Amino acid sequence: MAPKIKTIGVLTSGGDAPGMNAAIRAVVRAAISQGMNVKGIYQGYKGLLNEEIADLNARSVSDTISRGGTILYTARSSEFRTEEGQKRGAEVCRKHGIEGLVVIGGDGSFAGAGKLAALGINTIGVPGTIDLDIACTEYTIGFDTAVNTAMEAIDKVRDTSTSHERCSIIEVMGRRAGYLALWCGIANGAEDVLLPELYDYDEQALINNIIELRKRGKKHHIIVNAEGIGHSASMARRIEAATGVETRATILGHMQRGGSPTCRDRVYGSMLGAYAVDLLAEGKTNRVVGYRNGGWVDFDISEALDMQKGLSDYMVRVNKALSI
Ligand code: ADP
Ligand code: F6P
Repeated sequence: MAPKIKTIGVLTSGGDAPGMNAAIRAVVRAAISQGMNVKGIYQGYKGLLNEEIADLNARSVSDTISRGGTILYTARSSEFRTEEGQKRGAEVCRKHGIEGLVVIGGDGSFAGAGKLAALGINTIGVPGTIDLDIACTEYTIGFDTAVNTAMEAIDKVRDTSTSHERCSIIEVMGRRAGYLALWCGIANGAEDVLLPELYDYDEQALINNIIELRKRGKKHHIIVNAEGIGHSASMARRIEAATGVETRATILGHMQRGGSPTCRDRVYGSMLGAYAVDLLAEGKTNRVVGYRNGGWVDFDISEALDMQKGLSDYMVRVNKALSI
């Protein structure tokens, strides 16, 4: 069946995530396979407003599936948050013949996509963020690579922490989301995990735990601290003074967002990108795609943004139980 629209655009927005290139590649090639033209919009909504737009063909995305970052670059745009900015965004799409748009990013980017959809541009959101904090989907592109990168880094810190019998505080990304921290907590066998969602930061409890686990013969004490709690360096100084255990802080930072995507991020990126194109070809708009209960799903953008997702209490409890 002929697609309902002739030309689509694709952009990446918000924080980059490994696997975004796999999603871009899938959008480009799935659309071309269905007889559509594709335009790449560089630097997210900022580039849309600046008309940084170029035609993409199947060769434009050659050799990108294994690359981290995003070949379309990404940005945050305060102008696009305004009604005027959104109207201009829709006008730019029309001027360039873009009838449908795939937005790869997080919740903020989807809010913007919803605004464009309301202005008549058929828009589909694809979840791309290392934070795993998009409620309508069990999976977000980039999480698997980032969590493995952080896990490998924490393993290395743990080696030296054990050799010196130190306490190590390792700060992982996640200003509002603790998924990376919690998963690393379990994967790295951390003694303590500090999560922004729980607001349970209790320094005295940490200090007591370090002293207690030392008595039980532990050679290191790993604290995985989410960026949303932060203050790792000052925390280390206070913990060392209170426990007498040498304590070091390591902030992993943006290295967690880079690197070649894992198999999982490449496959989910490819599938979600292709699925977004299928929806556009069917004439759908204002949807976010995702993965739930073993299948590819899509939701109305407003419904998706209203959904809530919390950290699993059970995972938090298991992590605690396993750290004795
Ligand atoms: P993420 O998509 O990863 O959540 P941000 O929250 O930074 O990242 O959002 C990315 C961009 O999406 C913002 O810079 C802005 O241009 C746009 N955006 C975010 N929220 C809105 C909104 N409520 N309305 C319109 N555009 C928005
Ligand atoms: O949303 C992804 C993320 O990496 C968060 O984990 C982190 O809090 C934030 O982006 C950092 O943003 P920036 O790239 O602006 O430092």
